[in-house]
Amino acid sequence: MKWRSLAVVCALASAAASLVIAAPAEASGPLKTHAVARGKFIGAAIATSPLANETAYRNIAATEFNQITAENAMKWESTEPNDNQYTFAGADQIVNFATQNGQQVHGHTLIWHQQTPGWVQGLSAANMRIAINDHIATVVGRYAGNPTVVSWDVVNEAFNEDGTFRQSFWYNTLGQSYIADAFRAARAADPDARLCINDYNVEGINAKSTAMYNLVQSLRSQNVPVDCVGFQSHLATQYGFPNDLQQNLQRFANLGVQVRITELDVRIQTPRTAQKDTTQAQYYTNVVNACNAVTACAGVTIWGFTDKYSWVPDTFPSEGAALIYDENYQQKPSYTAVHNALDGGTTDTTPPTTPGTPTASNITSSGATLTWTASTDTGGSGLAGYNIYRRVGSTDTQIATSTTNSVNLTGLTASTQYQVLVRARDGAGNLSANSALATFTTTGGGTGGGCSATATTQTQWSEGYVIEPVRVTAGSSAITSWTVTFTLPAGHTITGSWNATLTVSGQTVTARNAAYNGNLGAGASTTFGFQVSRPNGNTSLPSGYTCA
Ligand code: G3I
Repeated sequence: MKWRSLAVVCALASAAASLVIAAPAEASGPLKTHAVARGKFIGAAIATSPLANETAYRNIAATEFNQITAENAMKWESTEPNDNQYTFAGADQIVNFATQNGQQVHGHTLIWHQQTPGWVQGLSAANMRIAINDHIATVVGRYAGNPTVVSWDVVNEAFNEDGTFRQSFWYNTLGQSYIADAFRAARAADPDARLCINDYNVEGINAKSTAMYNLVQSLRSQNVPVDCVGFQSHLATQYGFPNDLQQNLQRFANLGVQVRITELDVRIQTPRTAQKDTTQAQYYTNVVNACNAVTACAGVTIWGFTDKYSWVPDTFPSEGAALIYDENYQQKPSYTAVHNALDGGTTDTTPPTTPGTPTASNITSSGATLTWTASTDTGGSGLAGYNIYRRVGSTDTQIATSTTNSVNLTGLTASTQYQVLVRARDGAGNLSANSALATFTTTGGGTGGGCSATATTQTQWSEGYVIEPVRVTAGSSAITSWTVTFTLPAGHTITGSWNATLTVSGQTVTARNAAYNGNLGAGASTTFGFQVSRPNGNTSLPSGYTCA
């Protein structure tokens, strides 16, 4: 990697002599190149108006980032300003832009106490529950199956600073059950989307983040589909850096969730000075380094990218300049900081050593585990992970990545021969030579040794109930798929499900495994759940669960 040294241009911008610092040493290659090399995303919140109207804004948004979040366009007031009147112009604008530029979209946000229209806030409990289900089904459902939209902030800012629940209209009307209900509705609307809970001032270990930790642990123990935790990271240099950020990310990761930095900005007390820029840049470095160091941290999203468009000055008078480009789209020291943290800040051109020949194990009709001898990296940027490729003829297609010397391949075709190889990748994006090829053949389809299903009624109310868990247990040999059938009482309607795909024919419901929970070893089990509405007072429950 070559570094071009560029003079630091200082200009006295006004009679008030505020210092404008422009053009730090130019960093090589866009941010996303280095994020991809690490297997992470680098994202930005995007506003629809400059995206439509400003070429400079559009170009930076397209070239620097591989992930974007709508700053406002997917919020409830934007998508459903009046009951059952949906408007997706802004949301679609963001999604289409991302698709054109090969970016992922993180949906923000479904359930929040701000930017939710008045008509929702005054609803009765029963009607608010209906509104939540309808809104989530419609908004998430619109993009289900669209590979660009990969994740959602399902619940945003549910806590007070002392760790108690925020007394929002959601909480005051529904109690804390609104959180689990929202996650279940989102899973039902898009079984493949990653579902996140998101908050601010949870970057360090404190009362609020510990309350969030306890909630996530509790929800997951009840099979509520919380996949991910978002740490907004609206930081301010005058309040100091949360030095336990990495430790905090890791404790959440240890719960089995993905973590991500969702709304990073670092505001200063304006005007800018060289000293304040340096401090701010260090904060950006620290955040990206923390995410780099935690395997389960998927990436960092900056809340905007240019100081021309930032929520900060509107909210905090005399504060601002929080982003990585100035108002004139010039890169700031904070841009260089993010760039260097992503690429290792080195001139590493030495690729890692070649990985050992992979060996395949745990071969089923749809998956296999590959393991190989690890590579080493001496170039300075460090070993970042491995790319796994399938070879067909003379073409190698990347089918997976891994941060360890092992990977579980899924979604393979039954009774098919696979030739695979591995290449190691370092923090600067250098790739090793190909490993030797490994060849294996997936087994035939079929369900193997049978299964059984038992169902538990988790909760019921006069007009509905939740059945969870339905526990599916493999018999004396492993199975690769399962189908549970049961009978739904007349007049009852399934309103949501998770961890299985349900189809209804008359009163017979057929639940098939999701892509990720069909494989069960002998005697192993998995669970799914569903929610039903029923005529008031009709207390019948589903019956006759059979598994095949
Ligand atoms: O679009 C109208 C415009 O027509 C009108 O002339 C103008 C007058 O004030 O307002 C414009 O709407 C503003 C909107 O941003 C779009 O710019 C709203 O007033 C303003 O309240 C809204 O602020 C957004 C804020 O959330 C709302 O709380 C910010 O852009 C957005 O950056 C901010 O983002 C939040 C995250 O969603 C959640 N975490 C905190 C973060 C920062 O507050």
